[in-house]
Amino acid sequence: MKMNPHLLFSISATFLSFLLFTSSLFSVVQSTKFKIVNKCRHTIWPGILTGANRTPLNPTGFILKSGKSITLSVPSSWSGRIWGRTDCSTDPSTGKFSCLTADCGSGRVECAGSGAVPPATLAEFTLNGDQGLDFYDVSLVDGYNLPMLVVAKGGTRGGCSSTGCLVDLNGACPPALRVAAGNGSEIRSVACKSACEAFGDPAYCCSEGHNTPDTCQPSEYSLFFKHACPRAYSYAYDDKTSTFTCASADYLIIFCPWPYTSMKLLGARREAAQLPLVNKTTMYIGRHHA
Ligand SMILES: *[C@@H]1O[C@H](CO)[C@@H](O)[C@H](O)[C@H]1NC(C)=O
Ligand SMILES: *[C@@H]1O[C@H](CO)[C@@H](O)[C@H](O)[C@H]1NC(C)=O
Repeated sequence: MKMNPHLLFSISATFLSFLLFTSSLFSVVQSTKFKIVNKCRHTIWPGILTGANRTPLNPTGFILKSGKSITLSVPSSWSGRIWGRTDCSTDPSTGKFSCLTADCGSGRVECAGSGAVPPATLAEFTLNGDQGLDFYDVSLVDGYNLPMLVVAKGGTRGGCSSTGCLVDLNGACPPALRVAAGNGSEIRSVACKSACEAFGDPAYCCSEGHNTPDTCQPSEYSLFFKHACPRAYSYAYDDKTSTFTCASADYLIIFCPWPYTSMKLLGARREAAQLPLVNKTTMYIGRHHA
């Protein structure tokens, strides 16, 4: 029997729309999710800065109380950074919002295109980059203010290792880099500057005559960060041990993760990273000075 060509057309049209429907369903399912978790004992105000010429990720700043989380759908091929602001308040006379650490200077909770004023621990992402891989890292190049952990979940390719800085480096920060706050009776360390920011020396900043991997070497200060947080970026050319890749993953971004719990959580995962996530020696030092 000969098939009615109109019927054939209508079947294939239905099939086509079914295909389109399922593929749009898939692209929804495949959109990257960031789950941002605050495990700090205090409130934080995460900030988000989208890179140039990328679809912005909104909101660009928000409050996240202790124990709370938020899940964001991230535009495909998004690139940008996420950080946590601490000790924020609104000035009752001017109405201006500002934070003691990692402020973005916008005067409000949303950063609206402004980045973190250093020192700030940064989680950096470029999604769907070379070979469809996501590139991510946790950077201390602009200093440190909070412990952070990035965990890739459900990735199909790439190392998908966790990265971050799990140690509280504020207490252990070398005096020359320390940012303290408070008054006479109650001074506490709230952040730890990079050597570049503290001294402005091109040798620390990897600038001027030191702007290549060969002419910008680790310093005693960057090594302090690297020893404590072996997988985090400690200076501008610290790429080899600090950038991680994963394909089609969702990401968990945790502020103030518990170092021991995190280690247990990560024990079951495949570990492609050359360096440990936590340096137990330094963690011990950090805990006792915090
Ligand atoms: C010092 O700081 C404490 C705690 O933040 C505050 O309660 C106190 O009023 C401050 N004292 C002065 C003199 O500013
Ligand atoms: C761990 O910290 C100690 C003390 O700072 C340091 O000597 C050692 O190299 C660090 N280990 C790693 C893997 O970074």
